[in-house]
Amino acid sequence: MSLGHVERFKSERPIIIVHGGAGAWDVDEDTRRRITDFIEKLLVESYELLMKGSEAVDVVEYAVSKLEDSGIFNAGYGSSLNIKGVAEMDAGIMIGSVMKAGAVAMSRYVKNPIKLARIVMEKTDHVLIGGEGADELAKLFGLEKREINESINRRYKDALNKKILPPYYRKNLEIIDRVISLGDTVGAVALDIYGTLASATSTGGIWFKLPGRIGDSPIPGAGFYADRNVACSATGVGETIMTISLCRSIALSYRYLNDLYKATVESFRELEELFGGNTAGAIILSSLGEIIMYYNTKGMARGFISSSLSKPYVNI
Ligand code: GLY
Repeated sequence: MSLGHVERFKSERPIIIVHGGAGAWDVDEDTRRRITDFIEKLLVESYELLMKGSEAVDVVEYAVSKLEDSGIFNAGYGSSLNIKGVAEMDAGIMIGSVMKAGAVAMSRYVKNPIKLARIVMEKTDHVLIGGEGADELAKLFGLEKREINESINRRYKDALNKKILPPYYRKNLEIIDRVISLGDTVGAVALDIYGTLASATSTGGIWFKLPGRIGDSPIPGAGFYADRNVACSATGVGETIMTISLCRSIALSYRYLNDLYKATVESFRELEELFGGNTAGAIILSSLGEIIMYYNTKGMARGFISSSLSKPYVNI
């Protein structure tokens, strides 16, 4: 039995889906409206780029960089802090037609980890660069530095004062969600007018993680993935997602089952059998224009736009 909520649609290309993280999303009406408006506007801008002929990879990078800059979500400027109060950010990007991926882990310096992930993909011979190496690469390519986010620092200090520091965050996810975190991670998947898929994911990780902890978001096949048939961006507790390589599991199941809905539910079933509910979510898009948004948390900020809609679909 599936523990999650599933939404499915089908449309003509171009299509873009974004998420702002699976989580508790216990927010008041004003905040909900602000987040919904932000995602709606972002989808409209991204769709215009796709309609003008931009490639999927450019548009997912654009969408995720805006989500990183917003400060609303757990990525880029809004990144959660580790146990020492430092942001260590992960991100990954992938082009489906050529199956090229780039990713960064534990990056402390850069304002937009997704832009750095793209540099790893296009300007180096590597797929994943972490820590100081990632920071040096960002400086080498002149990428902007992340500013300190005072409101995030305050949340960190408040949480310390409230002594909610969990011995093991997985078991305390609901408490952390309620006290400091709205959701987890941002991501985008797109299908461009040429029929190419791309995926991008970015995150500050999990609040109060140990320094050096790396989640699923920069691991190809776990937190992000794209091939010729499917693109996926995941969100949730990284340790659960990476243990079953969630996005690649969905892609392979789709190859064999030829049914994107079943492939998604089967892959989440495996994750949920191991780790239970309140753990993860994902947005998934096929080259046939099938759209799936799945989450087993209370909510997931999400939305998509395509030629079959007069305005974007957005929900939390
Ligand atoms: N899904 C983000 C993380 O666990 O780091």
